Amino acid sequence: MTIDPQELRRCFGSFMTGVTIVTSHDATKKPIGFTANSFTSVSLDPPLLLVCIDNKSDNISAYTNGAGFAVNVLAADQHDLSNRFASPIDDRFADIDWSVSAAGHPIFNDTAAYFDCTLDQTVAAGDHTVLIGRIENCSTSGKAGLGYSSGKYFTLTP
Ligand SMILES: Cc1cc2nc3c(=O)[nH]c(=O)nc-3n(C[C@H](O)[C@H](O)[C@H](O)COP(=O)(O)O)c2cc1C
Repeated sequence: MTIDPQELRRCFGSFMTGVTIVTSHDATKKPIGFTANSFTSVSLDPPLLLVCIDNKSDNISAYTNGAGFAVNVLAADQHDLSNRFASPIDDRFADIDWSVSAAGHPIFNDTAAYFDCTLDQTVAAGDHTVLIGRIENCSTSGKAGLGYSSGKYFTLTP
């Protein structure tokens, strides 16, 4: 049986998710980040999460060989940030407010939540790599999250 790749994309896309930006630093200490909706909670004890990164990512080796990463869970009004970190622009961090987490990863202001992770393990999985992070710190702001379904953003707030 063969699967139509376009239909596969549409099927995956029909699963409603939140939107995150996964951040870290490259070997030159430059901040890096990409938009990801493949985020999933994995375990409470020990505290683990996962995100899947495309092997074609410009920064795949920084994530797979680095010490860890942060997952910024975007708030309902942060779709511009999501688009920026999904676009091929030179400096995605220019002119936006961010700070450095306790574990040393870029954290954005006004998100719904963040997770600060050390890299627990990587799992090769087809054209993506699963990054499993061990959560060292996390915090929620109480803000509603940004939703994503079939290529469109949505919010649960009026
Ligand atoms: C809503 C949304 C979710 C995305 N989820 C993922 C994801 O889970 N994994 C991934 O590798 N790319 C994902 N992407 C695509 C990347 O954000 C995009 O290809 C980005 O340019 C990759 O940047 P990089 O090459 O600097 O890593 C997503 C894009 C959008 C808009």
